[in-house]
Amino acid sequence: MIIAVDGPAASGKGTIARALAQHFALPYLDTGLLYRAVAANVTRLELDPAIEADAVAACDFDDSLLEDPLLRSDEIGSRASVVSAHPLVRAALFHRQKRFAYQEGGAVLDGRDIGTVIAPDANAKLFVRATPNIRAKRRHAELRERGSTLSLDRVLADIRARDLRDSTRSTAPLVPAHDAALLDTSFLSIEASVQRAIAIVDARIAR
Ligand code: CDP
Repeated sequence: MIIAVDGPAASGKGTIARALAQHFALPYLDTGLLYRAVAANVTRLELDPAIEADAVAACDFDDSLLEDPLLRSDEIGSRASVVSAHPLVRAALFHRQKRFAYQEGGAVLDGRDIGTVIAPDANAKLFVRATPNIRAKRRHAELRERGSTLSLDRVLADIRARDLRDSTRSTAPLVPAHDAALLDTSFLSIEASVQRAIAIVDARIAR
């Protein structure tokens, strides 16, 4: 069984995807981390994330980088959204994600284009969303816990810029798959969001 979870930054998709993986005993891949690793590598190599050839050169990273807590910073998130708009970067990361999705027994993946590009025939697709203000508050609290001093306004501005870039790029833009179930977590607790997500997947696989 393949479960695709897509949605914008801080919508709750990562928490929901992890909980689904645990509930259905499936392996889980946070695909955003791959783009974040490219962004971190571009920075390490002192290359320009906006130049496609530079970003492609940074796609060959060591897997240990995926464990680095620095990948979770707001700045790397913004740069990830810049490198991820390049078609050749998406192509470089495509097979790795596809292999993970179609492994024996299935998987849960979260990202922006799982239901549309990576696993278009996933058994269950969720598109998780929440209002920009609520997402900014969540991300601000998360970043503060990690020691960031960014203001709420700055986090909101970064989220809006990233939403715009992710949803207007020509390759694999952030849009719900036509057969995705929409889950708005704006006014739901984590627990309630997870329960709804499990109910959606149960209903999809029962069909
Ligand atoms: O956790 P958050 O939603 O803030 O970010 P993320 O999922 O780690 O993704 C960081 C950036 O990578 C996003 O803004 C997207 O531009 C890009 N991304 C993508 O293009 N496709 C994916 N499947 C996952 C992430």
